[in-house]
Amino acid sequence: MTNILSVRNLSKTYQSGHGSLAVLRDINFDVEEGSTTAIVGPSGSGKTTLLGLCAGLDRASGGSIVLNQQNLNELNEDERSLLRNQYVGFIFQNFQLLPTLTALENVMVPLELQQASNVKKRAMDLLEKVGLSERASHYPMQLSGGEQQRVSLARAFSNAPKILFADEPTGNLDAETGARVEKLLFDLNQEAGTTLILVTHDLELASKTQRIIHMKGGKLLENEG
Ligand SMILES: Nc1ncnc2c1ncn2[C@@H]1O[C@H](COP(=O)(O)OP(=O)(O)O)[C@@H](O)[C@H]1O
Ligand SMILES: [Mg+2]
Repeated sequence: MTNILSVRNLSKTYQSGHGSLAVLRDINFDVEEGSTTAIVGPSGSGKTTLLGLCAGLDRASGGSIVLNQQNLNELNEDERSLLRNQYVGFIFQNFQLLPTLTALENVMVPLELQQASNVKKRAMDLLEKVGLSERASHYPMQLSGGEQQRVSLARAFSNAPKILFADEPTGNLDAETGARVEKLLFDLNQEAGTTLILVTHDLELASKTQRIIHMKGGKLLENEG
């Protein structure tokens, strides 16, 4: 099997006025293409930081990440955003929708960056998939947390990513909407072969993935390689 992600001796340190804070220390793991993985651990253990580094959103302090056969250390800012736009989907813990754009326009952004055709229709189809056709012209602040979560999902799906990172994708949702989001994620894995890496507090959700990685204090507890 091919690894779509390889993390070696990864570390991340934040500098502050009082010195440096080591948030991730010596992280090592591989993820097979097409697999599903959950990352679990206490709040503050570094899950969001790890996800962001793996997706190329931020730079590591040490070690290496190879994503889709490309070493992120060797890419500049532009090359990393191209890689993200082509292969990576990311669902943020706090959605990060653009407040001045409608739901539809938010989903259109990655497609427009790709200079895709039929952008509007494709974005509408994605909104329909997450059950939000009627909300297409609403702005993020006019939507509930769960609805924003689903717009964020539609946006993350829009470039048909090879790998999807989801940071607590059901964290803000009621049980019914959570189940719906969960189904969308696993369907994408089953139907399109999208590799799924999700951070969650929900152990029931985690148990549905093929593998669980436990984090504590910036380290992996179970280093399965
Ligand atoms: N930009 C930042 N600057 C300084 N410290 C940060 C920054 N982002 C996160 N941290 C710190 O890193 C630690 C891990 O945060 P995070 O990755 O968000 O953990 P988790 O997602 O597991 O709750 C926390 O102590 C947090 O305060
Ligand atoms: Mg987090």
